[in-house]
Formats: sequence, C-alpha cells, structure tokens
Amino acid sequence: MKDKMKAVICTKFGPPKVLKLVEIEKPVCNNDEVLIRNYGTSVNTVDTLHRGGKAPKVAFFGVKRVVGFFLRLSFGGLRKPKQKIVGGGFCGKIVAVGKDVTDWNIGDHVYGYSENGGASAEYMAIPAEFLAKKPENLTFTEAAAVPGGSTPALRALKDLVTPKKGDKVLIIGASGGIGTFAVQMAKNVYEAEVTGVCGPSNVDLVRSIGADFVIDYTKEDYTKGDTKYDIILDIVSAQTLSKCKNILTPDGLFFANNPISSPRSIYHVITKNKRFRIGTADESAASMNLICEWIEAGKVKPVIDTVYPLSKAVEAHEHYESGRSKGRVVISIEE
Ligand SMILES: NC(=O)c1ccc[n+]([C@@H]2O[C@H](COP(=O)([O-])OP(=O)(O)OC[C@H]3O[C@@H](n4cnc5c(N)ncnc54)[C@H](OP(=O)(O)O)[C@@H]3O)[C@@H](O)[C@H]2O)c1
Repeated sequence: MKDKMKAVICTKFGPPKVLKLVEIEKPVCNNDEVLIRNYGTSVNTVDTLHRGGKAPKVAFFGVKRVVGFFLRLSFGGLRKPKQKIVGGGFCGKIVAVGKDVTDWNIGDHVYGYSENGGASAEYMAIPAEFLAKKPENLTFTEAAAVPGGSTPALRALKDLVTPKKGDKVLIIGASGGIGTFAVQMAKNVYEAEVTGVCGPSNVDLVRSIGADFVIDYTKEDYTKGDTKYDIILDIVSAQTLSKCKNILTPDGLFFANNPISSPRSIYHVITKNKRFRIGTADESAASMNLICEWIEAGKVKPVIDTVYPLSKAVEAHEHYESGRSKGRVVISIEE
C-alpha cells in the first residue's frame, strides 16, 4: 500500500476556491479506529460551513457573528480550520483494523458520518463507533450520497414529528438532498399521504419518488389552500409557523430546519399553541444502520444530482451552495 494519498484540503476559511487537491501522508489508525479506503463523500451544509467558517445565510435571531465564532471553534481554529480535510459523509472498504476493534474486519464495506470531517480523501482513520454497514444494493458512489442528507429527514420523521399512517404531510423543499429522502421515508416507511413542494423543473422528480401530490411553489400559494396538514416539514426554511397556521390541523406540527449554530443544525417543532420541541442532527451508526435497512428493503434510495471526481471538489461545493440541487451532490473517489 502506498504511503501517500490524494485529499481535498482547506488551509484557510473562504469560498469553494480555497479547496485544494493535494498529496499528503496517509493516516494510520489508532487502537479504537479502522482505516478505510474511502470511495466517496457528499457535499452537505456542515462541509460548506467547515470550509467557509461563516454562519449560513439563515442565521437564528440574526446572530451571525456569534454563530460564526462558535462554528470556527468547533472545527478547532479561529483563524484557519484545524481539521484541513473537509467532508463528513464517507463510504468505503476497511483496509486496517485497530487492535481494540472487535466488530469489524478488513474487507468490510462500511458507510457513515464523521463529525470531525476528513472524508474528502482516499483514506480515513475513523473511530469504529461511527461505522455502519453499507447498503448491499448500492454502489459505493450511490451509498456515499446517503450520509448527511438522509439523517435530518430521519431525525425529523422518526423522533420529532413521527407521522401516523394516512397523516397528511407537506414537505417544503421536496426536491433537495434532504427532501428527496424525507418524501420517501414519509411515504414508504410511515405510510403518510405526502405532498411535496418544489420548483417547476422538479415536479416530475418529486412525483417519481412517491409524492401523492406535488405543488409548484411558483404557481400556487399553498399557504392559502383549503387542505389542512397534520405535519409540515419546512426543510428549506421557506415559511414560518404564522404563515402556515391556516393549513395546519388543530394539533398539527410545524418542523423548521434551521441550519444554525455549532456545526449541527437545530431543528424546531412548533405546534399552533407554540409548544416547542427541539432536536439536533443524529448521524450515529444506529441511524445509518436503520437507513441501511430501509434502503435494502427498497423503501428508500438516494437521488443523485451530479457525481464529481475528487479533482472537482470546488465545483461540487459551488453546485451545492447554489441551493438548486435535485437530490444529492456526490464526490466520487473510486480507483
Ligand atoms: N444536507 C445536510 O446535511 C443539511 C443538514 C442540516 C441542514 N441543512 C439545511 O437544510 C436546508 C436544505 O438542505 P438540502 O441539503 O436539502 O438542500 P439542497 O439539496 O440544496 O436542496 C434545496 C432544494 O430546495 C428547493 N427549493 C428552494 N427554494 C424552495 C422553496 N422556496 N420552496 C420549495 N423548495 C425550494 C430547490 O429546488 P428549486 O431549484 O426547484 O427551487 C432544491 O431542490 C438548507 O438550508 C441546508 O443548509 C442541510
């Protein structure tokens, strides 16, 4: 095995162009870690925050500076990122196992999410606790599209607003990286009646992944419609509870996805009488294993917009930051 590897790094905070493809030393794994040959990653908000070192546009209560400060701290450096290799989601094959690791073997196919970045590289040393089994019915590149986008959808639907069979669920931002997972989970796992909201070029896509009804937000103001929803998932922060009050049932839940603070999102669920539930993302191995089960059962599959090679990581970040993705933006690191 060679000692060097290709990796995309950022040595300073800034726009996508700060990302550079370099050859660096391959990591070695500690006793509680495995070394994986990583075949792919995807671009997620956390990766762009890691690289940019700035709070996202939708900052809670407008406290962008404070958020930016804590964001930089969370990546270990105020002036430049301590973890230079961006990328949370990974997918690959184990090539070495630390001596304290008992559950995994060389050759196992794994995927998951590293809270410490490091995934835009050919090799990653990663604590065994972050590993989940890769879905067998997906290629490595397809499986790389799952960590990141799927977990906010899982967190919302499994823990925060769990639909009952037949509940009417409105998903705003149904065509994006999170929304395409949310539509399939709500429809195929929770058996809800799903209405997806998206732009005109994504209507067919959202229908094709199982939405019962699709609303083009350029043609229809759904906040003024007659249909009442049990659950509204506002994945792209396009609405507010007050604007959606008239289309919620009396006990309806409004889920707001606020990409703020730490590098982790804080999700709010608000009822009409202003009761709050708050949760954060959960990219644990348990979550990734559950999603693997749903994928292998044919209930969920990743929708991929574009696959970029590692050498085009700048373009991949620019694409994701456009906010116009149709499903997931993936970076392939296959041989
Ligand atoms: N990916 C993650 O891991 C992650 C984690 C936490 C939080 N977040 C945050 O969650 C939000 C969504 O993330 P994402 O990864 O799903 O984004 P994305 O992949 O960029 O998707 C955005 C999608 O929303 C659609 N859209 C834009 N404006 C809309 C509107 N007003 N109404 C309905 N649909 C609209 C876009 O389609 P059109 O082009 O047709 O408008 C696009 O398909 C972002 O704010 C992100 O920062 C993401």
